[in-house]
Amino acid sequence: MQDLKAELLRGLWYVALIGADLPPGRLAHKTLLGEPVVIGRRLDGKVFALRDICPHRGIPLRYGRFDGETIACSYHGWRFDAAGVCVEIPSLREGQEIDLSKIRCGAYPCVERQGLIWIYFPRTKQISDKIEPVQPPRIPAFPEEARPAAAIMLPFPCSTDHAAFGLMDPTHAAFVHTSWWFKHKATKLRPKEKTFEPIELGWRMLRHPLPPQNLVYRLLGRKVETEISYQLPGLRIEEVNGERHAVVGLTAITPITDETTEVHQIFWASPRWVALVSPVLKVFMRIFLDQDRQVVVRQREGLLHRPRLMLINDADTQARWWMRVKDEWLAAQAQGRPFVNPLEPKTLRWRS
Ligand code: FES
Ligand SMILES: [Fe+2]
Repeated sequence: MQDLKAELLRGLWYVALIGADLPPGRLAHKTLLGEPVVIGRRLDGKVFALRDICPHRGIPLRYGRFDGETIACSYHGWRFDAAGVCVEIPSLREGQEIDLSKIRCGAYPCVERQGLIWIYFPRTKQISDKIEPVQPPRIPAFPEEARPAAAIMLPFPCSTDHAAFGLMDPTHAAFVHTSWWFKHKATKLRPKEKTFEPIELGWRMLRHPLPPQNLVYRLLGRKVETEISYQLPGLRIEEVNGERHAVVGLTAITPITDETTEVHQIFWASPRWVALVSPVLKVFMRIFLDQDRQVVVRQREGLLHRPRLMLINDADTQARWWMRVKDEWLAAQAQGRPFVNPLEPKTLRWRS
């Protein structure tokens, strides 16, 4: 854990892109989990993700031409469809038979739902078409075709472990998220007590009512409640429900490499007007997320010296849970057995 690097967890779905950022007929490329990936949207709207390396002589496919259906490699024009299968080799002449269907660049399972493009990284690096991963997680309270009201992403120069610790750290806000216009100084800390229980790939803070005097919550109607869940591979889903409206926030961490991580912050909101104020909302979201990013930039200076670090009860108990859940995931994968959540229900107490 004290390392700058963390294991890359495979066999899981990762948030790759916001759907609206990839128009039909366009390609985007990213390094995710240390692998070059080209993501495309066909003219019929379907998204796909391929290993961004031409199997002929290795040039990234993203330099090629995409006609909305197939990508023609920039070097010798071999064409690949959205399943990563070669469909044409321009240099072939009559009688030169090659089984094109055997030439593949490798396709990742890729799904768009609720406005997000998710990519599945199979357990082994061999990408095969045979794997049938379960579906990516669903954002509660919103239908399949719902689109985020606001979304931002910042790259963090840290491993997924330190990004995840930040995600589930209940006591840093009073020290990190301060501005002259918002919580000028570290505010008075108050005692907190929350109960947690295990869920399929992590844990959740039990649903509880929010203070009715808060003006923002009142916009959602009466009886406002919240539930927060944390799950592999680094997803924090916060659902806030009132009698009239719902807002859900997703923070998703996607490793670029073992020591750099993309942090996505995404909101869905049922009041229609939220989409109108989205540019302003994004400015504030960026300020808050950048405060977290600045912390890991500075933390890196210390981590370069590989100090021994501490996790204390109960403020860092969730960071401990992250390590336990992650270790069990790695062990289950190595032994080829199902993941068994090692956590138990627990009430945690801290001041924040
Ligand atoms: S390197 Fe891609 S077609 Fe030759
Ligand atoms: Fe934070």
